[in-house]
Amino acid sequence: MRAYEIRGSFGLENLTLTERPSLEPGAGQVVVGLRAASINYRDLMMIRGTYNPRQKLPLIPVSDGVGDVLRLGAGVTRVKVGDRVIAHFMQGWQSGTPTREKISTSLGGPLDGCLAEEILVREEGVTRAPASLSDDEAATLPCAAVTAWSALIGQGRLKAGETVLVQGTGGVSLFALQIARMHGARVIVTSSSDEKLVRAKALGAHDGINYKANPEWGVAARKLTDNVGVDHVVEVGGAGTFDQSVRATRPGGTISLIGVLAGGATQVNLVPVLMQNIRVQGVLVGTGEMLGDLLAAMATSPTVKPVIDKVFPFEEARAAFGHLEGGKHFGKIVIRIRA
Ligand SMILES: NC(=O)c1ccc[n+]([C@@H]2O[C@H](COP(=O)([O-])OP(=O)(O)OC[C@H]3O[C@@H](n4cnc5c(N)ncnc54)[C@H](OP(=O)(O)O)[C@@H]3O)[C@@H](O)[C@H]2O)c1
Repeated sequence: MRAYEIRGSFGLENLTLTERPSLEPGAGQVVVGLRAASINYRDLMMIRGTYNPRQKLPLIPVSDGVGDVLRLGAGVTRVKVGDRVIAHFMQGWQSGTPTREKISTSLGGPLDGCLAEEILVREEGVTRAPASLSDDEAATLPCAAVTAWSALIGQGRLKAGETVLVQGTGGVSLFALQIARMHGARVIVTSSSDEKLVRAKALGAHDGINYKANPEWGVAARKLTDNVGVDHVVEVGGAGTFDQSVRATRPGGTISLIGVLAGGATQVNLVPVLMQNIRVQGVLVGTGEMLGDLLAAMATSPTVKPVIDKVFPFEEARAAFGHLEGGKHFGKIVIRIRA
C-alpha cells in the first residue's frame, strides 16, 4: 500500500510518498481501506516536529480519515467487511474521563495515521459513516468537529439562547459555529478577513468582528451583548488572544482553551479570571462517544454540512499542507485517497 511518511527528520520537505506492506489485523483490530483524509493544524505541527519533538519516525501523519473495512482480526463483531467507517481520533478513549494511557492513542502521532491507503485500528475505534455524508465530508469530523462538540456540548453544556464567540474561520471554529447554531445559540465570529466574516454570517453567525482591524475585539464582543459578556469563548488563539477572550466573557462564563495559534506561553493577568468566576476548560479533542453524539445531532439537522474549502488528490498531499500553511482557507482541507 502507498503511504506518506515523515522520514528521517521533521519538515514538510521530508513528507515522502512510499510503499509499505499491506496491513494485517491482530485480534480485535480491523484494517480500513481509506477513501479520504482531512488535515488539521495539528498534523502540520506534527510534520514540522513542533507538536511532539520526541515523536519517533518514520510516522504516517494525519489523524482524520474515512474508508471501508477491508479485513477483520480474530473476534471482531462490531463491524463487518465493507462497512464505511470513520476512524476515531483517540483509538483508546471511547468515553469517560481521560487518562494518560487513553490520550496517548491518537492517530497521526503517536500512532500511524490516515495519510495512507490503509490503516490499522481497533474495532471500537471506528464509527459507521452515515450515508448522508460524502467521504470528503465524513473525513472532516474526527478532530475538528469532535473538539468543537466537546468544548460546547460535551463539556460546555451549552444552552439555547446563550452567546458563543468563535475565533477565526478554520476547521474547529466553523464546526463550533454550526454546533452552536444547532443548539439555538447566538454566535459572534472573529476573523482577519471581512470577506470570511460575510461567509460566516451566511452560515448563521449573527455578528462578525475583524480582529486585525479591531485589536480590542474582546471589548467589541462584550458591547454586542449589552456589556454582559459572552457565555462561551472557543479559544483557538491561545496566549496572544486569551486576554481579549477574558474581556469578552461574562462573569461565570467559559473559555474553552483549544489552540495556540497565537502562542502557547504568555504572562496572563489571572485576576479577572477569578474575580469574574470564569471557567477555563482545556479541551483535547474528545471521545468516540462524542463523535456518535455529533453524528446523531447532524442527522436531525441534514442541512448542516461540514464546510470544505478544497479537496486535493492523494499525490498532492504536500500542496494540501502548503494551502493550510497559507491560512487563506475557510473550513476544512481534504485529501482524496481514492474515489
Ligand atoms: N486541543 C485540541 O484538541 C485541538 C483540536 C483541534 C485543533 N486544535 C488547535 O486549534 C487551533 C485551530 O485548529 P484548526 O484545525 O481549526 O486550524 P485552521 O483550520 O488552520 O484554522 C486556523 C484559523 O484560525 C484563525 N486564527 C489564526 N490566528 C488567529 C488569531 N491570532 N486570532 C484569532 N484567530 C486566528 C484564522 O482564521 P481567519 O483566517 O478567519 O482569521 C485561521 O484561518 C490550532 O492551534 C490547533 O492545533 C486543538
